[in-house]
Amino acid sequence: MLPIIKLIMSPVLIILLFTPPQEDKLSKEAKELAQEFGKTLKSELVKGMSEGGALNAISVCYEKAPKIAEHLSQESGWKISRTSLKARNENNTPDEWEKSILFEFEKLNESGEDQNILVHSEVVEKNGIKIFRFMKAIPTDAVCLTCHGSNLKDEVASKIEELYPGDTATGFKQGDIRGAFSLSKIIVDKTE
Ligand code: HEC
Repeated sequence: MLPIIKLIMSPVLIILLFTPPQEDKLSKEAKELAQEFGKTLKSELVKGMSEGGALNAISVCYEKAPKIAEHLSQESGWKISRTSLKARNENNTPDEWEKSILFEFEKLNESGEDQNILVHSEVVEKNGIKIFRFMKAIPTDAVCLTCHGSNLKDEVASKIEELYPGDTATGFKQGDIRGAFSLSKIIVDKTE
């Protein structure tokens, strides 16, 4: 076979042709940001728990989680948030697109897919603007059950009720998907 034909037929080239490099780059960036966001939240949570137990950690989550998301968003140029089918903070209620991906994650989780690799990215168009959207599932660990499980201590339950009267984020078990990181960025079209 002529070398040029060989190259055209090569699977590597075919993959390269069908995966737009910009989307690859954005997906990698989003994954790294989600990881950083998750790590920062977890270290604040662990610090809050060790300094003053669950009650203190609730206040830490209440005050710091939205701020950390805002700070990372400003720093990175991405819109960074968390969402869930059962949200605690109503600002984290999913939009229709997020809801459909969360349902998809639930299905994959039930069929035994590894929760740690459940991600979805897509370019969507809204009012003529192209937006790159990315979601990554957040698994429920044992430590999360203190505030998201079925048997919350009374003092924990009443603190949550006080701060989040509309809370729906309890009743989770280890192995459930607690929610997802949701990131988006407007794509600048270089041809325009
Ligand atoms: C000390 C109590 C506490 C623990 C432990 C805790 N959370 Fe939360 N979680 C909260 C509070 C409070 C919020 C609401 C934060 C806000 O206002 O943004 C929250 C919100 C969330 C959200 C955003 C969606 C929503 O419901 O609003 C996710 C996702 C989440 N938690 C996942 C986890 C995971 C995963 C763990 C375990 C690694 C965990 N949480 C452990 C208290 C806790």
